[in-house]
Amino acid sequence: MADLPSDNRDSFSSKFGVIAAAAGSAVGLGNIWKFPYIAGIYGGAAFLFVYLGFILAIGIPVMLSELIIGRSSQSNAFGAFKVLAPGTPWRYIGILGVSAAFLILSFYGVVAGWSLQYILLSVQDGFSNKSPEEIATLFSTLTESPVRPVVLQLIFMVLTGAIVIVGIKKGIEKYTKILMPLLVIILLFLCVKSVSLEGAKAGLEFLFKPDFSKLTGDGVLSALGHAFFTLSLGMGTLITYGSYVKRDNNLLSTVINVTVADTLIAIMAGVAIFPAVFAFNIAPAQGPGLIFITLPNVFHQMPGGFIFSILFFILLTVAALTSSISILEVVVAYFKEEFKLGRRFATVLATILISILGVLCSLSMGVLSPFTFMGLNIFDLMDWISANLLLPIGGMFIAIFIGWVYGRKKVHKEMSFGGNLSGALLSVFMFLVKFIAPIAIAIVLLNKVGLLKFS
Ligand code: TRP
Repeated sequence: MADLPSDNRDSFSSKFGVIAAAAGSAVGLGNIWKFPYIAGIYGGAAFLFVYLGFILAIGIPVMLSELIIGRSSQSNAFGAFKVLAPGTPWRYIGILGVSAAFLILSFYGVVAGWSLQYILLSVQDGFSNKSPEEIATLFSTLTESPVRPVVLQLIFMVLTGAIVIVGIKKGIEKYTKILMPLLVIILLFLCVKSVSLEGAKAGLEFLFKPDFSKLTGDGVLSALGHAFFTLSLGMGTLITYGSYVKRDNNLLSTVINVTVADTLIAIMAGVAIFPAVFAFNIAPAQGPGLIFITLPNVFHQMPGGFIFSILFFILLTVAALTSSISILEVVVAYFKEEFKLGRRFATVLATILISILGVLCSLSMGVLSPFTFMGLNIFDLMDWISANLLLPIGGMFIAIFIGWVYGRKKVHKEMSFGGNLSGALLSVFMFLVKFIAPIAIAIVLLNKVGLLKFS
């Protein structure tokens, strides 16, 4: 049947495998490291609620759109638009995505490298007998050093490349299925401990009691950017993964499973961290070091904390790995299919190029810190440009493409595989991708550049 994915293309072997891989991509440093630290900067609960609104109104429809584009085109992020809209400029959305993948993975690998370092520190029992101040110094000393974090980041990139080389079934799918549930269990233990600390209440209020007067335009933009980042949207990760999904999978149910899992894990990370932040008198607006400074204090106070901290940082690294492979895969699928390279060569090339940028990100925390642009060092700049600019712009065009170019009829067909879709649901979806998502994204971006002021 012409409708079925061609046999020579790699694909996920089961429905659970698809959900596990997509959830593995979504759940990562974004949930556990980034969400708490930007929520901390932008005032907690108000940020959380705006972010949840964006997940519902924009994240879910854009995720569905990406999977539709990927599965129906059976192609990489760039090639997909060539298949679905031949001879049009739509393919450049794919280029935007591949560029975003470069920027994101460059700083992502650095943070994953920190996580590796924290596995080592945990094994050496390096947090015991240390005051909260000493633990904070430990973090800055590590990240500012010119050698160690660079080496650890490179190790992480080699791990990522090694899994991607093996390909979809044997690599990506296998590693994702087992370890995610374990991470959730550890997080639950941390939540319980953190909430039972003295002074925890202030942290829960910070996270759940919104004061919308604190919300700034930058906060709203970051919430939008983070909704994309955390769900792995806007740059073709889910176009690429969608191209490996078989037709017996129902896309809507996959999307709902992934979104719920991702959101719950971010909220759990918040519950594990903010009560402890307040209990130990740590500044919530600490920045990228927040979890690395907060959690060791919690481990201190837990019976069995030594074991917990080792396990936690191992699982954080694994969660980072199941995400980083999905970012690298975008570049590799593009190199492979558009330049006719072998998977092995494409992966080695992509890994080397991204690692070079990653080394600069790592050094920008220390020796290269004088180099800034708009007040941001290289690390923050890569993060800012990708999450707050490239992903929302990519997502906006993806929604427009599905709403206005691809059209309702084909959407209906693609979404009906593996389950029925009601007409009402389809209408809601079409309304979201045609109007709500593009307009909301445009307003937030225009507000940022100052063309439109609402705060
Ligand atoms: N979503 C992942 C996280 O939260 C990171 C990630 C993986 C990503 N693939 C992506 C972010 C694609 C943006 C785009 O850690």
